[in-house]
Amino acid sequence: MTVDDIPKVFHLGESLYSASKLPFLYRTWDPYEVAYLFSSETDLSIVAEIDNTIVGFCLSTTVEKPNKPWRYGYLIWLGVSTETQSRGIGKRLLNETSRRMKQKKVKFMLIDTEEGNVAAVKFFEKMGYEIRHRQVWMWRNFAKAKITEKTLKSSVEEVALRRHVRKAK
Ligand SMILES: CC(C)(COP(=O)(O)OP(=O)(O)OC[C@H]1O[C@@H](n2cnc3c(N)ncnc32)[C@H](O)[C@@H]1OP(=O)(O)O)[C@@H](O)C(=O)NCCC(=O)NCCS
Repeated sequence: MTVDDIPKVFHLGESLYSASKLPFLYRTWDPYEVAYLFSSETDLSIVAEIDNTIVGFCLSTTVEKPNKPWRYGYLIWLGVSTETQSRGIGKRLLNETSRRMKQKKVKFMLIDTEEGNVAAVKFFEKMGYEIRHRQVWMWRNFAKAKITEKTLKSSVEEVALRRHVRKAK
């Protein structure tokens, strides 16, 4: 991957991680992360091309634990354009990433994705990965939270007013 590929990879990801199908991936995919991963993990940021057009990408990193002899590999983003899926491109990207990880003394590879992303889960299982843990992702809508705080504030004011009235009696 080169620096000129950053926007192309970002736009390809945008077309894959849709709000309706992959809501968590959609919300966390941003161009700065692509740029950050490329600059910090250049050799773990790879693309697949057909006729000079990027049709797939794989962005990953390694995690080191103090006092441990090995490293973890962490695949963060993987995508293959819809038109070229099921042609072995995802497999080649993952195999090349694994090869590079092994060169870096990585012992375990970690991957996460949404549970509802059945196609990706099946793909990773086919590639030898197994589900070890299920996570939940949570969110809070601050716009709605504001209403709650306002309601809370008015009920606090109401209590104070009642106390004041009682005192006055
Ligand atoms: C998941 C994804 C990367 C797979 O890429 P791909 O290029 O279509 O997959 P491949 O053609 O290399 O398939 C490799 C193997 O997985 C299997 N596979 C792929 N998708 C599958 C599916 N939906 N169901 C069952 N098996 C599947 C293939 O049959 C193939 O097996 P084989 O080696 O025995 O022939 C691609 O579908 C994609 O980009 N999805 C949207 C983005 C996404 O969800 N990314 C992952 C989370 S970051």
